[in-house]
Amino acid sequence: MPFPYKTVLITGATSGIGQALAERMIASGVFVIAVGRRKERLDDLVKKHGSDKVAAEPFDISDLSALPNWVKHITTTYPKLDSIVLNAGLQKTLLFTKPETIDLAAHSTELTTNYLSPLHLITLFLPHLISLSPQPTSIIVVSSCLSLIPLPRCANYCATKAATHSLVWSLRAQLTGPEAEHTKHIKVIEILPPAVKTELHKIQKDLVEQGQGDFGMELDEFADFTWGELEKGDGPDGRDEITVKETREWVEMDHKRRGVFEGYVRGCREGGMKF
Ligand SMILES: NC(=O)c1ccc[n+]([C@@H]2O[C@H](COP(=O)([O-])OP(=O)(O)OC[C@H]3O[C@@H](n4cnc5c(N)ncnc54)[C@H](OP(=O)(O)O)[C@@H]3O)[C@@H](O)[C@H]2O)c1
Repeated sequence: MPFPYKTVLITGATSGIGQALAERMIASGVFVIAVGRRKERLDDLVKKHGSDKVAAEPFDISDLSALPNWVKHITTTYPKLDSIVLNAGLQKTLLFTKPETIDLAAHSTELTTNYLSPLHLITLFLPHLISLSPQPTSIIVVSSCLSLIPLPRCANYCATKAATHSLVWSLRAQLTGPEAEHTKHIKVIEILPPAVKTELHKIQKDLVEQGQGDFGMELDEFADFTWGELEKGDGPDGRDEITVKETREWVEMDHKRRGVFEGYVRGCREGGMKF
């Protein structure tokens, strides 16, 4: 079965991975609800493809108090919404050797954008996704391969992604558990990109000064690969975790951990315990 979702909301669709996935989905006939703060970029996307293929929804996802009303607005305006791609994120350098340079407010925003906002969005969109049962729906979360092994230079970023990775495992286990007949139609997919050439690095002044503002896999190569994996949908090769071969060693280690996790979840279920 190919990518089964027809109306997809993507956060962070104004650049990089979110924009590249939006372009591929639009080209495949998926209606995209594009979200980001830079309204002019969202408007350009609509101008390019037409309002019958994509909608612009400018919004700052780190404004947690505004999220409930915004989610209500989205689900009312687009009742067919059947998938959310939680992709928006940001990265900052954090050097404990130079504590005077650490901007804690900026790192709090990093935590809110990368972790708390997805947590809130999942919670707020779930009632809508549940209401579509038994139609297939999905929650697609973009974490990072740095959720598996941290890069000390961006310590807080890696911690937000590790938290997201952990949350995704528990979310998936709960939605497919024995008490979850009403949520079994919601597939949870995690994308763990390696370093990809996007604005994530380009807008970091310290990286640019060190000549590291443009490194990683080519964006189109990564987006083609990832879209190819998403397109497999629920088919025999469909995956709920999308990683690239370059991070194979890390992923293999993590799959051992996932095996242990799934074993104890199974054990808890069989023993009638809450897990
Ligand atoms: N590039 C990599 O090497 C890499 C590796 C692993 C994981 N990732 C993850 O991939 C995701 C996409 O990153 P990218 O590499 O594509 O970076 P990017 O080009 O900088 O894109 C980040 C996107 O997030 C949006 N965003 C940031 N803060 C937001 C906010 N408060 N409200 C709404 N939108 C917000 C930005 O839109 P506006 O500025 O218009 O709001 C932009 O569209 C992130 O979660 C990142 O952590 C990237």
